[in-house]
Amino acid sequence: MESKIKEKIKHLTDKINEHNYAYYVLDQPYLSDAEYDNLFRELESLEKDNPKLIQPSSPTQRVGHPIKSGFQNYSHDTPMLSLSNAINEQEIHDFNQRINKWLEQESTSYIAEPKIDGLGVSLIYESGNLVRALTRGDGYTGEDITHNIKTINAVPMVLRDNKHSHPEFIEIRGEIFMLKSDFAKLNQVRVQEGEKLFANARNAAAGSVRQLDPHVTAKRKLSIFCYELGASKGLDINSHWGMLSYLRSIGLPVNPLAKKIDTINNMITYHQTLENKRESIPYEIDGSVIKVDNYFLRSNLGERARSPRWAIAAKFKSKDAETQILDIVLQVGRTGVITPVAKIREVEISGAIISSATLHNQDEIDKKDIRINDYATVQRSGDVIPKISNIILEKRPKKTVKFDIANHTCPSCNSIISRLEGEAAYRCDNPDCKAKVQGSIEHFCSKNAMNIDGLGIQIVEQLIDSTLVATIDDLFTLSYSDLVVLDRFQEKSANNLINAINNSKDTTFPRFIFALGIPNVGQHTSKILDIHCESSIDKLSMLSLEDLENIDSVGLVVAQSIIEFFNSPSNMNILNNCLAGGVKIKKTLFENSHQLKDVTFVITGSFKTHKRNEIKEILEKKGAKVASTVSSKTNFLIMGENAGSKLEKAKALNIKIVNEDQLESFIN
Ligand code: IVH
Repeated sequence: MESKIKEKIKHLTDKINEHNYAYYVLDQPYLSDAEYDNLFRELESLEKDNPKLIQPSSPTQRVGHPIKSGFQNYSHDTPMLSLSNAINEQEIHDFNQRINKWLEQESTSYIAEPKIDGLGVSLIYESGNLVRALTRGDGYTGEDITHNIKTINAVPMVLRDNKHSHPEFIEIRGEIFMLKSDFAKLNQVRVQEGEKLFANARNAAAGSVRQLDPHVTAKRKLSIFCYELGASKGLDINSHWGMLSYLRSIGLPVNPLAKKIDTINNMITYHQTLENKRESIPYEIDGSVIKVDNYFLRSNLGERARSPRWAIAAKFKSKDAETQILDIVLQVGRTGVITPVAKIREVEISGAIISSATLHNQDEIDKKDIRINDYATVQRSGDVIPKISNIILEKRPKKTVKFDIANHTCPSCNSIISRLEGEAAYRCDNPDCKAKVQGSIEHFCSKNAMNIDGLGIQIVEQLIDSTLVATIDDLFTLSYSDLVVLDRFQEKSANNLINAINNSKDTTFPRFIFALGIPNVGQHTSKILDIHCESSIDKLSMLSLEDLENIDSVGLVVAQSIIEFFNSPSNMNILNNCLAGGVKIKKTLFENSHQLKDVTFVITGSFKTHKRNEIKEILEKKGAKVASTVSSKTNFLIMGENAGSKLEKAKALNIKIVNEDQLESFIN
């Protein structure tokens, strides 16, 4: 009897999974919604009567329990890089030329795909089972959102059988997004329920995967297209096109608009055609992505700090909309820079509702003669803040009001503001300006800085108002008894915040340096400084302007900012207080000992720039094996000059060969 029920459960499960595959991957659904629901209910009821027979991967188990203690962070096995942009046709041509020049060939085969305006996700399957899903995060570490990703029917809980055994480990990258129609429906419901509207489909998708309770995510209709491989073990694929068809074969949705492209003209045509049909595509896209097809060529091309050389995002022209400037207000940032912002009559641009646009600075206002009441075009492209692109002078009303920042004081503390010689921006110089203090504390606690959960805008304001916190180092003096007496705090939340602050103290050099909010020192620069200073703040503080300028990708402006920061006694005081308050910097281990795990190399011939032993050492530090003879177990032959019989053997065994010119990008 039990085996009969087991069989029935399996039959229903297979049927549901098969339908999901037909629906999401093949785009050929064959069951009506009602038929699907009936199968699902039948399975639910059988499982209810036979709880012992419930499989963790059953379609009924997609929605699990809420997570209680916030999202867990995981580091990505290989970083999730971003893409560099081409903003016009010339830059697409330049990309193609760069590639051909580097690879020393006349032409290269590419795959072009739509660039979806969603959020990147990494799906990890072990022996065919979905074990984890992570957000992109800062590219190096992401948040565990498995409980929410499981609720998306398009993501298989178990990979589909494709006649080959599934790899021991595979990480698949893709984009989570919301269809335009699902986004519109969601906002309609939110209007009816008096809830805040999502500004666009991307925010709605991002908000949905960052829920603690998967029941909420399950009600939102999320979609996915997969487009890259991360790390994998036991998989032999050598082209992107091959990879996309492999993904389809194991049941993952792949964008049907992906196309093989062999000439630069076809590349431009693909991009233009996509742009022309942008409105009729059921989800938001903001460009095309062009990728080198062949994986070996990709590894020859290698990567820059944040993006691979083998791909580019060709952006669509940004979209304009006409509106009217209702007012001009000032905003003050954490470094005291005052930014003029136009409050505009609300307009919608590619699904986003826009009510303000940046005016950058006074020079921009003067150059374009921007006045209150003017009609203007507002421009939005991708993630960047909307800006006023043009003033429609023919429509200028009789009554317009000119705007000059010089006639204003700081919008937060009312202090006089000033403009430094040679700088475009006005600044508030009051070190106690509340907006600056608040901004610097919020920045200090933010996700990519010290990552202190529970210090939202309102709490920070409350801590400043109650004089508990005036500068970032004061956070490390807070105690449970300081907090528990405040409004909005209860025993549990006071405890949680103290714990979050304590947990943040074990940190890394890039996080801490970024958190300090040194002007012009972002996350990327902090990582570069980390390498140069070997995670030592003392070392950083002792570098001269010249030392700093000599660091790759640190320019004069950044160097001056750093010098100025460490020359200020009050900054030094804050920094020392943080360290005395318990902040500990973990030394960063730079050699990624997993990068080349289980990859076997053989080195042959002589090399111009490296000794053979050096090459061996570099590879071994990255976890590779370096063998002395070529066999079927060899993955790569590193070939120098006068290579002999090993080269012949490697060729005969079809082993990938890396020459000295390619070696540098290969080991990087
Ligand atoms: S490939 C290293 N393909 O765009 C290459 N990305 O700016 C990794 N995106 O973080 C990404 N559509 O979230 C790739 N067809 C596509 C994409 C795509 C959207 C996103 C992705 C990535 C960002 C890069």
